[in-house]
Amino acid sequence: MKKIILMLVCLPMFVFACKGSKNVEETTVTPPPSSITKSSFGQTRDSIAVDMYTLKNENGMEVKIITYGGIITNWTAPDKNGKYEDIVLGFDSISGYMRGSPYFGALIGRFGNRIAKGKFSINGQQYTLAGNNMGNHLHGGLKGFDKVVWKAEPMEGKEPALKLTYLSKDMEEGYPGNLNCTVIYTLTADNSVKIDYSATTDKETIVNLTNHSYFNLNANQGTILDHMVTLNSDKYLPVSRTLIPTGELRPVANTPFDFTTPYAVGARINDTTDQQIVFGGGYDHAYILKGDGKLNLAATVVAPSSGRKMEVFTTEPAIQFYSGNFLDGKLTGKNGVKYVKRSGLCLESEHYPDAPNQPAFPSVALKPGETYKTSTVYKFSVVK
Ligand code: BGC
Repeated sequence: MKKIILMLVCLPMFVFACKGSKNVEETTVTPPPSSITKSSFGQTRDSIAVDMYTLKNENGMEVKIITYGGIITNWTAPDKNGKYEDIVLGFDSISGYMRGSPYFGALIGRFGNRIAKGKFSINGQQYTLAGNNMGNHLHGGLKGFDKVVWKAEPMEGKEPALKLTYLSKDMEEGYPGNLNCTVIYTLTADNSVKIDYSATTDKETIVNLTNHSYFNLNANQGTILDHMVTLNSDKYLPVSRTLIPTGELRPVANTPFDFTTPYAVGARINDTTDQQIVFGGGYDHAYILKGDGKLNLAATVVAPSSGRKMEVFTTEPAIQFYSGNFLDGKLTGKNGVKYVKRSGLCLESEHYPDAPNQPAFPSVALKPGETYKTSTVYKFSVVK
């Protein structure tokens, strides 16, 4: 049963003034207020209750977040006719998420992306993490932040926002230090979802948090091969066969990796003359961004048939562009849709993969007394 937690009347009343020949007639229309509502989304295998929070803005845009994995299960955006439809892959029930989801919509931590052989050292002390992906460590391990239940608290303010917190205990999944994490999801009046990540530790550790939403701007129909992508980046990180960066920062110019101008995802994705396309099975690479700590534009995606446009802004120094190459039609998601190869794409804002082992990459170390802080914004509009 739905319980209204908070109704936020964000906007003053809209006032439309129509000038008549003599008098000024005023018609006052109150837009539907933004809100956060809470409902139950079942429970985990160990009987922990999972809640769903629905954030809604005054335009009618909706984002549903569950406390399991901080997962965004549903996310609507308008098409060129103003129709709000769901544009992320996911499941209808908690069992789908627990049965082996490829991180649909989830918060990823402590370390998003890969760490070679699951090993890294801090001040001469070596740590070993799960080798859960071709012998490498991926997305925080066997029970990463995508599989834990976060504490949720709706925030007061003029925009609907949900604060999620999680304490990852010292040596959880092999990472040192008690890490206190906070993630705030805010749905703004301009159809953006802002994600603010922060964390503190009591012992030096490594952190790299992100969100793993798979977008399909054609309301989850078909593949994303027609989506036009622009990346604000002229270098990317080539990888080994097991998808660990080689350490090189390679210019994208004259390669299928060049998205400095808009290209359809599918235009060059099968260009197997480029070894990196072969290793990634398509795009599965980190692109280098400015990373100056400001919210810079990192990526733009436009789906020509629906007219939906998404812009991604981030303070992070890299963004992983993953074209859903490992989806293979075996998963059936919301509304019975089969998730075929490349039916969704991810743009994961983050630090560089394998940074703990590559001293030339920006540091991912977090020390006691410091605060890890990053922000990413996904903004929706339309192109007619
Ligand atoms: C990685 C892919 C991986 C996927 C898991 C992405 O972030 O880059 O290689 O298969 O996550 O769903």
